[in-house]
Amino acid sequence: MKFFVDTAEIDQIRELNDLGMIDGVTTNPSLIMKSGRDIKEVTKEICGIVDGPVSAETVALDAEGMIAEGRELAKIADNIAVKVPLTWAGLKACKTLTDEGRMVNVTLCFSANQALLAAKAGATFISPFIGRLDDINLDGMELIADIRQIYDNYGFETQILAASIRSANHMSEAAKIGADVATAPAAVIKAMANHVLTDKGLEGFLKDWEKTGQKIL
Ligand code: E4P
Repeated sequence: MKFFVDTAEIDQIRELNDLGMIDGVTTNPSLIMKSGRDIKEVTKEICGIVDGPVSAETVALDAEGMIAEGRELAKIADNIAVKVPLTWAGLKACKTLTDEGRMVNVTLCFSANQALLAAKAGATFISPFIGRLDDINLDGMELIADIRQIYDNYGFETQILAASIRSANHMSEAAKIGADVATAPAAVIKAMANHVLTDKGLEGFLKDWEKTGQKIL
């Protein structure tokens, strides 16, 4: 499973990229707002750090507007994936931008039917939002499994990009199901390294080491 980091914070992107932990980046209007930066400026900087796809989201509501914004965002760098919402207009924009040879990430997906339509429209990525479904007492992970099954049934090449990930557990669950990509905040990716038994084990080893009176350096 590929990892994307869901942020527009340069320091976080650089740290994870230097470690080889990420294969791409996703942003959205809320993350751009949080960064306090100009969308084109910050996206260009991100595209210069990461080789893989960098999603930049349109904000128009009509297809023509999304297509125009998508073309403008795609000028930033070759690795831009234009992000459009899963509306009828977004599907039209997806088809046009895909036909022009651009990567398209269809976002705000909350049902298997929506994911089926995005695949028919030629989306490069479909972004089902796990956490936001869990928030309303639905099972976000079940949606990932349903989309996996449907795409595999028909050989759709659209990549399942598990989004709105809130915990390290979401990452392993998405990987078990076979999501192609998972996008998560940097803190969630880092939290994957944590285990209570690792901490406990380390504490025990260090206590015993102290008793030896030895030094390595
Ligand atoms: C995905 O591309 C979105 O930017 C993101 O995963 C949304 O996550 P949230 O529901 O935690 O805001």
